[in-house]
Amino acid sequence: MTTVLKGKDILHVKDLKLEHISLISETAARFETVMASGGILTNMTGKVLATLFFEPSTQTRLTFETAMLRMGGHVVSVTDVKTSNSAAKGERLYDTGKMIDGYAHVAVVRHMAEGSAKELADGAGVPVINGGDGSGQHPTQALMDLYTIQKERGRLNNLTVTLAGDLKNGRTVHSLSWLLGKYGPRFNFVSPKELRMPEDITKGLVADGIEVVETTNLAEAVAKSDVLYMTRIQRERFIDPVEYERLKGSYVVNLDLVKKSKHGITIMHPLPRVDEIAREVDEYEGAAYFRQAAYGVPIRMAVIALVTGLE
Ligand code: CP
Repeated sequence: MTTVLKGKDILHVKDLKLEHISLISETAARFETVMASGGILTNMTGKVLATLFFEPSTQTRLTFETAMLRMGGHVVSVTDVKTSNSAAKGERLYDTGKMIDGYAHVAVVRHMAEGSAKELADGAGVPVINGGDGSGQHPTQALMDLYTIQKERGRLNNLTVTLAGDLKNGRTVHSLSWLLGKYGPRFNFVSPKELRMPEDITKGLVADGIEVVETTNLAEAVAKSDVLYMTRIQRERFIDPVEYERLKGSYVVNLDLVKKSKHGITIMHPLPRVDEIAREVDEYEGAAYFRQAAYGVPIRMAVIALVTGLE
């Protein structure tokens, strides 16, 4: 059973079955327990993780690198596409993938183009993990989001979940809606009409029998939600800066909104936040976004360990 992910790329949440999700969560929980009790993990001793980040990242890159270091492994990094990577000279991701085989045992790639992780994986023989490809996918973010919901709510089924903000461009909500959809939620998709969830995702969920309400009214949605998953408006995906300026302040979660929300609502955010959650909300006990960011470490430890078969 523990070998089902060995050698596999993690590129899209559609590649993940329920048994994979359970295995990753159970492995993450085991690693978390070891770390909490002061134990040292050595399962990745002598192994190397390559992190190739062609787009900015704080949380994803640091959690992957922390994860590898916490298991006794090493990390090599590309962090600045202009100076530390031959993409600036025209190198193809396929060729980068071929070279990675000579340096590392597993790789994570973040790139501005949808499909980029697949191109790198086509070249690489080692497992490749998609750390976010344009507006496409961010599968390990969705895994840590599920892990967070399980921790905060005690279950994944029978929940009303509001995804809000830039649902058109946000890869985290694209991945999370597919993955959480396996557990039969009731979804509210809240966005300006220009930034609605892509139709193929909404239609796919509805075809699977999931209740989806699309609305522009955040207050109405949170009044009956167990979880609010807030996202920023993704400035880097806008062609027209005037359009971004017009839409950027569409929604702000503040304590006033929290008071009007369903009692005990869990508030999540993949980070980085800009101004869509006021800092005053950080004191609210259901504000889970920094705990969510921390869960990225055990989840990414589990993913690295399982795809390399060194769990
Ligand atoms: N959630 C997320 O992908 O954050 P970073 O862009 O900081 O990695």
